Amino acid sequence: MSATTTERLSIFTDPSAYADEESWHREAARLRREEGVVRVDDPGFVPFWAVLRHRDVSAVERDGATFRNAPYPILVDGKDRDGGGPPVRNLVGMDGAEHREYRKLVARWFRTGAVRAQAPAIEQAVDRVLADVAARNGETIEFASEVAAGIPLRVILAAMGIGPEDDARIHRLSQELFGSKDTDVARADNDATIAVVVQEFGEYFMGLAMRRRAEPTDDLGSALANATVDGRLLEPPELVPYYVLLATAGHDTVSTVLAGGIEALASHPDQLARLQADPALIPAAIEEIARWVTPTKHFMRTAARDVELGGRRIAAGDWLLLSYPSANRDEEVFASPYEFDVTRRDAANHLAYGAGPHFCLGAYLARLELRTFFERLIPRIRSLEIDGEVVRAKTTFVATFRRLPVRLELDA
Ligand code: HEM
Repeated sequence: MSATTTERLSIFTDPSAYADEESWHREAARLRREEGVVRVDDPGFVPFWAVLRHRDVSAVERDGATFRNAPYPILVDGKDRDGGGPPVRNLVGMDGAEHREYRKLVARWFRTGAVRAQAPAIEQAVDRVLADVAARNGETIEFASEVAAGIPLRVILAAMGIGPEDDARIHRLSQELFGSKDTDVARADNDATIAVVVQEFGEYFMGLAMRRRAEPTDDLGSALANATVDGRLLEPPELVPYYVLLATAGHDTVSTVLAGGIEALASHPDQLARLQADPALIPAAIEEIARWVTPTKHFMRTAARDVELGGRRIAAGDWLLLSYPSANRDEEVFASPYEFDVTRRDAANHLAYGAGPHFCLGAYLARLELRTFFERLIPRIRSLEIDGEVVRAKTTFVATFRRLPVRLELDA
């Protein structure tokens, strides 16, 4: 039995804990140094192990045979687990041969060459939002919603063959699905919210699939609509969660790194000055920005057999939480991990995109978006400051900003 108190362990289960980054990291650092792998017995949750060290998170991620994503790859409370299984199943909840087969259906869309073909769409999306920023030069803007949110959403929807007129709708649905534990966003009844959102997403994406089956095109939406497994087209219960995953996994994550990068540069003017003096540092600096922000707070695994991890006996069937923000501040891997250093040589060893068989499918796309944005913005910044209270969403999964007021002056 661990000596840690329930209060400290609630940093993994209480959505508001992540909204206070400083105190979250203080508690996680202590748990990481003292225990590494911690048993979390929080009332309301099936007990699980929180895995805090970089080497343990990495080992679990790479051993997909021992640590399975099914049946619950994301933290849900005990009430949701009593329901008999996750409400929707997608790539993230699959393992082994099945996972490889379904991942292969769209994998070619996310390889470096194919992603490079998206460069013009990315540049266009970045230039459009930067033109809006320039038009309001020197004013205080809400950077998260007015700037960062518009880029990745447009990029992934363009790749899927969806026009800008649907951006607002997909964004709202995505916020409701992933922000549903955020008391600022959730509708009154959480279960009803998820059911309504899933149904609305279903109608939207089956409409897209039917149009692409009738008239195939060369976009990602069409590739998925016409993909086959064992010689048959995907059924709606497979297809809709796949579309939803692609449409949503790529925007809150990227937009939070864009916004978190701006927050970090505004709070560390010396680091901004270094990048302005030498913009050739920007491609490597986006890895430090991803390490620093780490928007995805966890994924879960279930042990398929008894195994030892970080000195603990994990039993078959035990549930484990992989703590990416903790692993990315691990002092055993990163020197002075609580310093934001855009010249950090080993920043790319971070685990913000995961590792192993489930390694983020969109990592190349995300990197190109981040690089394009910061390369186009940083050389033009004349002044940058946070101008008001920064408010983070209350969520245990993908972090977003509710408010990031920024005063930004750009060169023409
Ligand atoms: C900075 C941006 C992003 C971050 C930090 C991020 C993070 C992650 C993480 C941590 C995982 C789980 C990895 C694991 O279990 O080992 C993941 C998986 C995934 N990501 Fe991303 N992601 C980002 C951008 C994107 C983009 C742009 C897309 C495009 C659609 C995307 C699509 C996916 C998909 C489909 C998976 C599931 C892969 C699988 O289960 O095989 N992500 N991402």
